[in-house]
Amino acid sequence: MRAILVLLLLLTACNAPPPFQPASTLEEIMHGMVIPNAEVVWDSTGTIFTVGKTEEIQPRSEDGWIKVEAAATTLAEAGNALMMEGRAKDKTGWYERCRALIEAAVSVRKAAKARDVDALFTQGGVLFEACQACHFAYRFEADPKTIRTH
Ligand code: HEC
Repeated sequence: MRAILVLLLLLTACNAPPPFQPASTLEEIMHGMVIPNAEVVWDSTGTIFTVGKTEEIQPRSEDGWIKVEAAATTLAEAGNALMMEGRAKDKTGWYERCRALIEAAVSVRKAAKARDVDALFTQGGVLFEACQACHFAYRFEADPKTIRTH
């Protein structure tokens, strides 16, 4: 009898949901984790054209590259944070868009680890598409007056 009780207790413990504790609103996650790190990625490459000169932007030091890698890591894990119970808006399209964010961020990090400026620029674009895909489905529809910058 006691053995059965212990077994039951163990089974209940296994079925218990993970002890996540959502501590931030979606807006706080966007402002605290997603936006600043996406900006690190987007600001890391590009071309600035001014009269008579063009300037190529790219990470120019080991620290600069590592900063991009770290930003991509936070973005990827923000994708997991967005999927948490109590935060996810559904278990279908929302999960899919979170996975797209994770995949894009992992590709950004891969490009940064390879010190590949062109790939970093391209994957930055894929990252932007991942943001937009979720916003079009879950943000702009909810508030059509939102300014659609990113
Ligand atoms: C899985 C869905 C999802 C992904 C992916 C996502 N967002 Fe969001 N984002 C939202 C939702 C939902 C809101 C609206 C939150 C609210 O106001 O409650 C939002 C809001 C925002 C806002 C507006 C915040 C404000 O002050 O109202 C910005 C800016 C933003 N996201 C940037 C980004 C960027 C940059 C990325 C990609 C690197 C991204 N988001 C990826 C769902 C997502």
